[in-house]
Amino acid sequence: MRIAVFSAKPYDRTFLTRANSGQRHHLSFFEARLTEDTATLANGFDAICAFVNDCLDAAVLEQLHNGGTRLVALRSAGFNHVDLAAAERLGITVVRVPAYSPHAVAEHAVALVLSLNRMTYRAYNRVREGNFALDGLLGFDLHGKTVGIIGTGHIGLIFADIMHGFGCRVVASDPFPSPDAKSFVEYVPLATLFASADIISLHCPLTPETHHLIDADAIAQMKEGVMLIKEGVMLINTGRGRVVDTQAVIAGLKSGKIGRLGLDVYEEEEQLFFEDLSQGVINDDQFMRLTTFHNVLITGHQAFFTAEALTNIAETTLANIDAFERGSGTLHRVTTP
Ligand code: NAI
Repeated sequence: MRIAVFSAKPYDRTFLTRANSGQRHHLSFFEARLTEDTATLANGFDAICAFVNDCLDAAVLEQLHNGGTRLVALRSAGFNHVDLAAAERLGITVVRVPAYSPHAVAEHAVALVLSLNRMTYRAYNRVREGNFALDGLLGFDLHGKTVGIIGTGHIGLIFADIMHGFGCRVVASDPFPSPDAKSFVEYVPLATLFASADIISLHCPLTPETHHLIDADAIAQMKEGVMLIKEGVMLINTGRGRVVDTQAVIAGLKSGKIGRLGLDVYEEEEQLFFEDLSQGVINDDQFMRLTTFHNVLITGHQAFFTAEALTNIAETTLANIDAFERGSGTLHRVTTP
């Protein structure tokens, strides 16, 4: 099949080309993000391959359909950026990579917890400048702390395992408690999780129900004066940016209710992430405000970014395309609920 790969970075080219053994598909790589303005690049392609910040709303899908596209192969697990009803109406099949490396994301969430706790990102700069003072780097033992996990799917459960390994108590909230959850995972109502957790980590998908799940009301319910150092809770988001109301979180940081914040995803990340914008002016004042806090650590949607994950993403994407072409076999198809 002829496949137009959007938002293609050098690493996408490397891993997809490697997975396309025997050159069974013709892959054309476009650096552009898929939008209404760039959708015409896909004219004449049977399939397009898209990533998390590509736009797949009704207008874009309409254009793809008019250009002959019959398959949208997502290189992601999340599909909140696709208008599935429009795709179904237009007869476009949507497939995804359901779980490429849940370990990658869970481990990155843990990396954020550890870095924020011991402020290694501040220590790195201090030591390079000959500043060996410890003031401002005070952390706390993870052992004995309560970790609240929102969403106990593939990633949330691995995160639970790791944090349990540190000696943390694990409480969780999920409308569908997992039968795979180990006995140490205590499912509790969301209000109890907010009231008891020292560290809260988000691992749910973005849905109408989870949009701004962490808002001013949720933050008000969170614990005060946690840890021995009497600071606010630690909040980690490696799920999706819009699960968090950024304005409310900024207010929580200013009041001290949120003591440490680790983000790998951000509400308006489509305009920022995956690009080198260092030579220009960043116009997102809300994002820039976040970067001014010493207790905020932001990474640019890199939690998935391991060699294992990229290999799985490329191989599953091409297997999805093979199956679609054959008209049989297992497709990781996404349909409207
Ligand atoms: P999954 O589908 O295995 O698990 C999601 C869990 O969230 C399910 O158990 C579901 O019941 C639960 N959930 C749904 N609504 C909820 C709610 N209102 N409250 C609490 N829990 C709720 O998904 P997986 O693979 O664990 O991924 C989780 C999310 O992580 C993805 O949806 C995606 O948004 C994000 N992700 C982020 C990546 C990154 O690089 N930062 C990479 C991959 C995924």
